[in-house]
Amino acid sequence: MSAPAVESALPQAPAALSQQLKTHTASAHTAAEDSRFVAELMGGTLDVAALVSLLDQSIVIYRALETALAAHTEHPQLGAFIDRKLARVAALEADMAYHHGADWEAQLADGRIVIVPATLAYADMLTTMGRESIEFLLAHHYVRYMGDLSGGLIISRMVERHYGVASEGLNFYDFDAIAKPKPYKDRYRELLDTTDFSRAQQDAILNFAAESFELNLAVFVDLDAARKAARAS
Ligand code: HEM
Repeated sequence: MSAPAVESALPQAPAALSQQLKTHTASAHTAAEDSRFVAELMGGTLDVAALVSLLDQSIVIYRALETALAAHTEHPQLGAFIDRKLARVAALEADMAYHHGADWEAQLADGRIVIVPATLAYADMLTTMGRESIEFLLAHHYVRYMGDLSGGLIISRMVERHYGVASEGLNFYDFDAIAKPKPYKDRYRELLDTTDFSRAQQDAILNFAAESFELNLAVFVDLDAARKAARAS
């Protein structure tokens, strides 16, 4: 009997976590991009109000996310990912004031600014799971910030072009502390790949990342339904 080829006797090196994340969420990413709300927003058939309704959901989501992250800045694995340059809440607050006026907090509190059920569920999840699972938080950190540094910039350009939204109302998409997203994202991927996560942790991060896309997709579905309901009434 001949000896097995050396290559086939060697165990396969596991793919780097950054690559696994990209592969594991690729179809969910396409589903989010293709969701009716996002596709219509990008296609130019919606209006400024649609973009503003997306920013309204974003402030609720990022307040929950960044509050949860703030409790973990010293964590030996998650801590290194948490970077003030990424923080979006202050930018969103400026956008809210621009689009809704100085009393936007009151409008948010009394429901004049509509927050859809999927956003409330997503924010609740960030608050509760964010207390107990750093794998959960890292997955959401990845999906939101890597997404904002990639597609977010494209979305900003498109809404500026289609709906004439002034850049003063699009601070959310402007990472002014990150001059070049590409090297930042490369370093982020490197950090994912060099942080010592156990196999079980990596699996949890992959699954939470896929779930994060679903939570985001649910917000788009609700925003689409809310527009239809508003049109019908
Ligand atoms: C119109 C909508 C969108 C467009 C045009 C878009 C576009 C892109 C592009 C071009 C990249 C590749 C960037 C690169 O390789 O450096 C990317 C990556 C990414 N996007 Fe999106 N995207 C959209 C929506 C979303 C949404 C809704 C999410 C999540 C909520 C998201 C999350 C991500 C993530 C996490 C990555 C990083 C993938 C990786 O390299 O690991 N994107 N997006």
